[in-house]
Amino acid sequence: MADWKIRKVVIPAAGLGTRFLPATKAIPKELLPIVDVPTLQLVVEEAVAAGFTDVVLVNGRGKSAIEDHFDIAFEMETTLRARGKTAQADGLRAIANLAHVHSVRQKEPLGLGHAVLCAEAAVGDEPFAVMLGDDLIDSVDPGIGQLVRVAQETGKGAVALLAVPERETSLYGIATGKSAGARRTAIEHLVEKPKPGTVKSNLAIIGRYVLPPDVFAILRKVKPGAGGEVQLTDALAQLAVEGRLIGVELEGTRHDAGDRLGYLKANLAYAMKRPELRDGLIAYMRELVR
Ligand code: UTP
Repeated sequence: MADWKIRKVVIPAAGLGTRFLPATKAIPKELLPIVDVPTLQLVVEEAVAAGFTDVVLVNGRGKSAIEDHFDIAFEMETTLRARGKTAQADGLRAIANLAHVHSVRQKEPLGLGHAVLCAEAAVGDEPFAVMLGDDLIDSVDPGIGQLVRVAQETGKGAVALLAVPERETSLYGIATGKSAGARRTAIEHLVEKPKPGTVKSNLAIIGRYVLPPDVFAILRKVKPGAGGEVQLTDALAQLAVEGRLIGVELEGTRHDAGDRLGYLKANLAYAMKRPELRDGLIAYMRELVR
C-alpha cells in the first residue's frame, strides 16, 4: 500500500510530568526549555521540517500555556516592535506560523494510548504520525520523516527503535523480530517494561510512530494496564502480531527530555551547538570536574 498519505501528526502533551515535579506543578513539562527553546517547539519544528503542516495537539488541564506558545503574542510583539527589536518580534511570529496547531483535550491523563485515542476525530480515517512532546531526535534528516518514508514504502505501521543498554530495557517497550534490511526490524512481539533478563532484544520503542487508522479501534479495546493507564504499546503489539509493524533505528541522536538526566544532557548537547555558548560552557565544565 504505497499510497499512504500521512498528513497529520498527533503530539500528546497532556501528561502530568511527575518526574519533573515541582517544576511541572504550574509549567507543562513540554515547555521546559532546551537552552531557550521549549522542548515541544523543537518537536513541532521536526514535524514541519518533515513536511507536516497540521499538528493535532493532545492537551490537558492546566497546560494552556502550550496553546499560547503556538499562538500570536500580540502585546509582546507590539512592545518589542516599539522598542525596535524587530528580529525578536519576527521570531515570535514565526513560531505562531510554524503549523496549523489544533488542540484536542484529554480530560484525564489515562495514558499515552488514551491520549492518542482522544485525537481520533481530528485525525479521521487516514494513517497518521505520533510524536511524543518530550522526546527529541536531533538529526539532519528529520526523525519522523524517516518513519514516514518507511511506512509509505511498506504500507505498514512504523515505530522508532533505539538500542539501549541491557540494564535499561525494563524502562521501555521492547521489540523483538527479524531484520528487514538496514536499520529495519519486522517486529513480531512487543513487551512493555520487561523484567531484566526476560527478553533477548535491547531494541526500545522511542517517541516517534506512523500508525494506520484502525489503531483507534484496537485502542478502544485495550484494557488499562499498569497504573490504570491505557498503553499505546498494547495496541502496537497487536499490529506486530499481525505482521503490520516495522521498527526503524533512526539516524540522529535521541534525547529523552522527560527524564532529568536526559533533559540535562539535551541542554548540554544543544548548547554546545551554539557558537555564543560553546566556549564558555566548555570552560565551566572543566572547572566543575577539576
Ligand atoms: P510520559 O509518560 O513521558 O509523560 O508520556 P508523563 O506521564 O507526563 O510523565 P511522568 O512519568 O509523570 O513524568 C510521554 C508523552 O505522552 C504524554 C505526555 O505529556 C508526554 O509528552 N501523555 C502521557 C499524555 O498526553 N497523556 C497521558 O495520559 C500520558
